[in-house]
Amino acid sequence: WVLMVTAQTPTNIAVIKYWGKRDESLILPINDSISVTLDPEHLCTTTTVAVSPRFDQDRMWLNGREISLSGGRYQRCLREIRSRASDVEDEKKGIKIAKKDWENLHVHIASYNNFPTAAGLASSAAGFACLVFSLAKLMNVKEDQGKLSAVARQGSGSACRSLYGGFVKWIMGKHDDGSDSIAVQLADEKHWDDLVIVIAVVSSRQKETSSTSGMRESVETSMLIKHRAKEVVPKRIVDMEEAIKNRDFPSFAHLACADSNQFHAVCLDTCPPIFYMNDTSHRIIGCVEKWNRSEESPQVAYTFDAGPNAVLIARNRKVAASLLQRLLFHFPPSSDTDLSSYVIGDKSI
Ligand code: DP6
Repeated sequence: WVLMVTAQTPTNIAVIKYWGKRDESLILPINDSISVTLDPEHLCTTTTVAVSPRFDQDRMWLNGREISLSGGRYQRCLREIRSRASDVEDEKKGIKIAKKDWENLHVHIASYNNFPTAAGLASSAAGFACLVFSLAKLMNVKEDQGKLSAVARQGSGSACRSLYGGFVKWIMGKHDDGSDSIAVQLADEKHWDDLVIVIAVVSSRQKETSSTSGMRESVETSMLIKHRAKEVVPKRIVDMEEAIKNRDFPSFAHLACADSNQFHAVCLDTCPPIFYMNDTSHRIIGCVEKWNRSEESPQVAYTFDAGPNAVLIARNRKVAASLLQRLLFHFPPSSDTDLSSYVIGDKSI
């Protein structure tokens, strides 16, 4: 027999960034972060996990190619979920798995991303969140989302935020064992559904410096990152929560843009400096800043993760349509600049 579960998990985009760990193996951050989870139809990972007594080892395929599961992060997630497994019974198929059997059963995992892997579009976030969620369903793990988020966190920090829709905060926590470093939902996807996210895929090439090594180098060498984590982010988190609660777009946009710019300033302050944005990214920032200044209040927020692609958040559908027009005019799609649009909620443009 084979027992299978399939799950789909969207990626999330941080508007207050996570950058820097205080514990590398447990993946504990040096500051809180806040993100928006995208619509599950776009930028998502689909994962199928299967268990069978015929499987003689754990194996995984990513986008159709087998990958090694020997990395500590996969092992940790598998171990953490296995240790929380419960009895499973499927009467129709005549399958009965007792809690203790899970230790000796192996799983096969097939995972697909519908977007470029490792191009700064947070693919590891959706990937590990989906892996943990589907394994937890397969193994009948009874723990709540918060506890599952702490397991997903050990796969990739940003993954803990993808277990919820809407606006999500990853609380850094204080404990050494990471038990209080979990994600919580601030507001669901219906709370502020005027917002439209447009992603300008500037390059789908693999980034040169991974987030993991980039943030390690920043923690080791940047002075600015200390100031950011201690003095800047704590206040920004409070202000961002308030802006989200009140659907206050001018404050939201101001905080998101400032935080993205400070994160990239920390990258420049790292030795040797890390450049995630390119000329096209900088030109997009210029374009949005100019537009926002020409209006009474900001219309669009921008944020960039560890790559050159722009995530643009328009205050409503009308602004999003006008934003797309402007982008297409200034950045006509070419081999290097390919513009696509994605949404929150069930709206598309
Ligand atoms: C810039 O979660 O990919 O996207 O925990 O080492 O796997 P690891 O890093 P990762 O870092 C994401 C960094 C970021 C900001 C964010 O998503 O908050």
